[in-house]
Amino acid sequence: MHRSRLVIDLDAIRHNARRLAQAAGPAELMAVVKANAYGHGAVPAARAAIEAGATHLGVAQLKEALAIEAALGPQRSGARILAWLYEPDADFAKGIERGIELGVSTPAALEAIAGAARRAGRPAVVHLKLDTGLGRAGAPRDAWEDLVREALALEAEGAVRARGAWSHFAYADDPGNPTIAAQMEAFRDGLSLAGRLGARFEVRHLANSAALLTGLAVTYDLVRPGLALYGLSPIPAVAGPAELGLAPAMTFESYLSLVKTVAAGQGLSYGHAYVTDRRTVTGIVPLGYADGIPRAATNVGPVRVGGRDLRIAGRVCMDQFVLDLGPDAPEREGDRVVLFGPGADGEPTAQDWADAVGTISYEVTTRLPAHLERVYVDGGAQSAQPS
Ligand SMILES: Cc1ncc(COP(=O)(O)O)c(C=O)c1O
Repeated sequence: MHRSRLVIDLDAIRHNARRLAQAAGPAELMAVVKANAYGHGAVPAARAAIEAGATHLGVAQLKEALAIEAALGPQRSGARILAWLYEPDADFAKGIERGIELGVSTPAALEAIAGAARRAGRPAVVHLKLDTGLGRAGAPRDAWEDLVREALALEAEGAVRARGAWSHFAYADDPGNPTIAAQMEAFRDGLSLAGRLGARFEVRHLANSAALLTGLAVTYDLVRPGLALYGLSPIPAVAGPAELGLAPAMTFESYLSLVKTVAAGQGLSYGHAYVTDRRTVTGIVPLGYADGIPRAATNVGPVRVGGRDLRIAGRVCMDQFVLDLGPDAPEREGDRVVLFGPGADGEPTAQDWADAVGTISYEVTTRLPAHLERVYVDGGAQSAQPS
């Protein structure tokens, strides 16, 4: 009996981590496992990445870092965890006590973190972020000197250790975009200035998946891939996962919960956005936008049923969608439906879904909610693991 679930291949994540570490050369690997490891389950994905050699984990929110740290326990194997977003009432002291490193963009944030470090009785380990042109987080170039000076003063006092310096690209997925060279140069300039001021960073990091896989010379001491760790291509217009040596880790499968014959001219689902052109068999798949299926997949979301390629027929509802299985459909209730997977058996991929609904594969997997069952393939065997 089939059911709705995500099958996550931890062997694939380990393979991808090794592939990325190899591309990084001597630089170390920070596995980006934010957003529940792009939907794959933060803790199992983090564990697999560490087993394959990742020495760092990267997340957005401090609370994600704390949850992963607590769940991994000794399986963290000394891996450092960096968090770069925090809520106004963030528990920095707890983060510092648990060895979480913090990305910092402003002197005010540094002050708040240093205050917590004084209370915790140990220095906060911080990575100073320079905005080299993304226009998101990071100190703008004219504020970088102040940030570095502030960090050095707090370092002299013993409240912080400025371990890292980092930045993030705007267009790494668009090889040749002129902003890439400009950002690389801005990062070099920022590092030189910090060096002249006396900063001694242990790790400098700039590369995400696309920067790493397009061969930019920006591996520095650490690389921070996310998407590619899960086997998806950050540059789908240029190369797919196989060409990049990546193995997609997620398969999203479900089943036909109801199969019935309907008349010609029958509208299917809300608004009758699809009308049958002949007497046909329809199948209901019990997944909807509450389960991460974009409503924009109405009439376009690709699925594989019994070796056939179909598209969603009619509007995606909150918890179900309909398929037109055709007049002679052999399918029965309970039969397997594959929404996407690695593509090796002809099933659609996460990239096919992204193309169908006008988004990126990041969003396809990341939006899959925590309530979906996740089953892990590990060394060929399947098991449910807490995520
Ligand atoms: C600061 C930062 N570094 C690294 C990454 C990983 O990026 P990617 O998944 O494209 O490799 C992200 C993800 O968006 C990020 O925000």
